[in-house]
Amino acid sequence: MAALSPSPAAEPTTLRQAAGDRFLVGAAVRPDQLARPESAKLIAEQFNCLTAENVFKPQSIQPRKGEFNFADADKIADFAAKHNMALIGHTLCWHNQTGRWMFEDAQGKPLPREEGLANLKAHIFAVAGHFKGKVKGWDVVNEAIDDGGPYLRDTPARKSIGDDYIIQAFKFAHEADPNAELYYNDYNIERDYKNAKTVRLLNELKAAGVRIDGVGVQAHWGIAWPDNAELERGLKALAATGLKLHFTELDVDVLPRKGESANITDVQKSAGSTAENPYVKGLPDEMQKKLADRYAELFRLIMKHGSQVERITFWGVDDGSSWLNGFPIRGRTNYPLLFDRQFKPKPAAAAVMKVLREEGK
Ligand code: XIL
Repeated sequence: MAALSPSPAAEPTTLRQAAGDRFLVGAAVRPDQLARPESAKLIAEQFNCLTAENVFKPQSIQPRKGEFNFADADKIADFAAKHNMALIGHTLCWHNQTGRWMFEDAQGKPLPREEGLANLKAHIFAVAGHFKGKVKGWDVVNEAIDDGGPYLRDTPARKSIGDDYIIQAFKFAHEADPNAELYYNDYNIERDYKNAKTVRLLNELKAAGVRIDGVGVQAHWGIAWPDNAELERGLKALAATGLKLHFTELDVDVLPRKGESANITDVQKSAGSTAENPYVKGLPDEMQKKLADRYAELFRLIMKHGSQVERITFWGVDDGSSWLNGFPIRGRTNYPLLFDRQFKPKPAAAAVMKVLREEGK
């Protein structure tokens, strides 16, 4: 009997299909995007992993000591569960978007170590406990490496607890949810100026014997930066730690800017000039093409790390909702994502789909 010829595999039409079981494709979202039918549909179709853009952060969940608000965070968790998506918890310990009460007294002085530790532990136990079994993994500590100094950023947590606040946070997270994966997350850690400091921290965490599964490379990148050779070098060094690579906040800035940092407190007001905000009426074809090429290049570069890449998450869904419309300069019109303001795929989306189809593992 003649063998039945296998039916030709249908071409994948969405990002999650195209990535298959190679890695998760995620998006950062806000509850309002999930409540809007148009964006909710796009999110459920394209992505298989969600991060909350803001509502899992300490300021949102525990704005004042002992006052917990899980309602918004639960909306994201429920949507993820309903649509068979993984959920990433971002973040348990950060120096931004965190109530001052956690590590400072009313005068702004660091709390004594024992008090700071108790607040950190209570927060992590409450939050990781609440999402136990629902979260694939936690960004336990966010942005602990200093941009300028020799090693650690002097955050309120560090001032109160000491250098081991990072180790303690990982220990608490593991105790609170022993099955959750734990990650260290930061920006520009693939860049020369921060890479060695980050590798040092990752190795110290491993040496301390705490659970750590992955390193989160935020990947707030630009059309012409970082330099590809520097990026490759940095990723290679991070990969050499043996940890899984998570690309946690990918977007590609197309607008002119001075710095190349994702430090959210470095925001300037717009002067309203055309030079500063050149594409108010739309992104010219030539720039669409550049953005598509850049996305293809970045995906190829990331995918060189094969099965060590566990996730690629975009920081947003459509251009209209991107934080880069307000960062690092307020009030601009930016185009950093794969879907436009009408939720339609841009040439960059097609370019990424093409790379996903072509690049095997
Ligand atoms: C940003 C959000 O996108 C904004 O809505 C918010 O106003 C500030 O924070 N690195 C991170 C993210 O780890 O949490 C930040 O998200 C972007 C930079």
